[in-house]
Amino acid sequence: MRIGIYGGSFDPVHDGHIAMIDSALKSGFIDLVIVVPSVRNNFKLYANKLPPPYRYYMVKETIEGLGIRDCYVSDIEYGIEGVSYTAVVLGKLTSDEYIRDFLTANGIKRKKAEESHEFFWIMGSDTLGTFESWYNPGEILNHASLLAAVRPGDNTDVDKAADSIRKNLGGRVEIFRLNGFDCSSSGITTSGDFSMVPEPARKFIAKHALYTGNTELEGVSEEARIKFFESSVWMYGYLGEKRLLHTLNVGYLSAHMAELFGSDKDKALIAGALHDCAKELPMEQQQELAKKYCGDLFTEKKLLHSPAGATFAKEEFGIEDKEILDAICYHTTGRGDMTLLEKIVYLADKIEPSRDYMDLAPIRAAAEKDLDKAVRLTAQAINNKFVSQGRDIHRATLSMMRDLGME
Ligand SMILES: [Fe+2]
Ligand SMILES: [Fe+2]
Repeated sequence: MRIGIYGGSFDPVHDGHIAMIDSALKSGFIDLVIVVPSVRNNFKLYANKLPPPYRYYMVKETIEGLGIRDCYVSDIEYGIEGVSYTAVVLGKLTSDEYIRDFLTANGIKRKKAEESHEFFWIMGSDTLGTFESWYNPGEILNHASLLAAVRPGDNTDVDKAADSIRKNLGGRVEIFRLNGFDCSSSGITTSGDFSMVPEPARKFIAKHALYTGNTELEGVSEEARIKFFESSVWMYGYLGEKRLLHTLNVGYLSAHMAELFGSDKDKALIAGALHDCAKELPMEQQQELAKKYCGDLFTEKKLLHSPAGATFAKEEFGIEDKEILDAICYHTTGRGDMTLLEKIVYLADKIEPSRDYMDLAPIRAAAEKDLDKAVRLTAQAINNKFVSQGRDIHRATLSMMRDLGME
């Protein structure tokens, strides 16, 4: 098969990206497109607005939602350590080992998947002129030909750039016409006009409240921002889409509440983001990790992931800060004598934007003004649910409720 590969940040995905995929598929040069949302792009290392999993799932839901055929999304960059240079990504993606499994996993018949394939790196013609200065361009051309789109209004001398690459590097370069207008992700996020963002992506953005003041992470240190991004890549290996995005949403909301109530924003971001990191580990492993953090305090299956998460974040992700680890440990139950950070993560977990298990509007409103009131409302709602289900309330929760004057 002739396979086009289209990499980018997709922060957010917009109509220009969709036009690119569409035009490439119609160009006659390729049979299918593999979209590769970046993880650690060398041009924008940690400079993206959103951590990688949001961008990956947003693109995936958009391609599926728009019903674009012969187009698949790859998470290959999660398996690459360090900067995901195009040469490195292509080396891995074009290997028989990877591409065969990827195509069959996406419903392509094994016989077809096992044919020998031809690869094309899809790019804008505006980047063709700089191609020779990329990291290891010769290596890129060993793996793929270049398939460059001529954008409307593009002034670069496309033929000249293509000839230079052919002559200096000996690669194959093909040009195709881009049908559609041009727009840029940064233009969209700067202007706040999302009309050029496809409907499925707009829904995704609204559901997780992305590209808002809370996701700007103003006042968060560069170190914490990098840790937040890296935690999302690390957790991608352990959590499914829904839970991963939930736990990251809690990071954003915790940072926002830390700002409102005068807690440490860096710690809130990291504790919130990591709070559910252990939730999809095998139960036996959760039991073992939980015991290490606080002995037999938690034994109920549903609660184990909290202390287990503290140990997991410490041992596997290198978090040493006790305040962060405690906020992870007590996020489900709360406890007596809670710190501000613990209350924030406890609350953010229950009300982050994608949560819709009950009418959360009153708690969300309280959470903007009065932290203890919002925690009380949450504890009360959970208490009512437990009573109606005949379940016991954990003693740590009872202590929290006592502290908040709920008896
Ligand atoms: Fe949890
Ligand atoms: Fe959670």
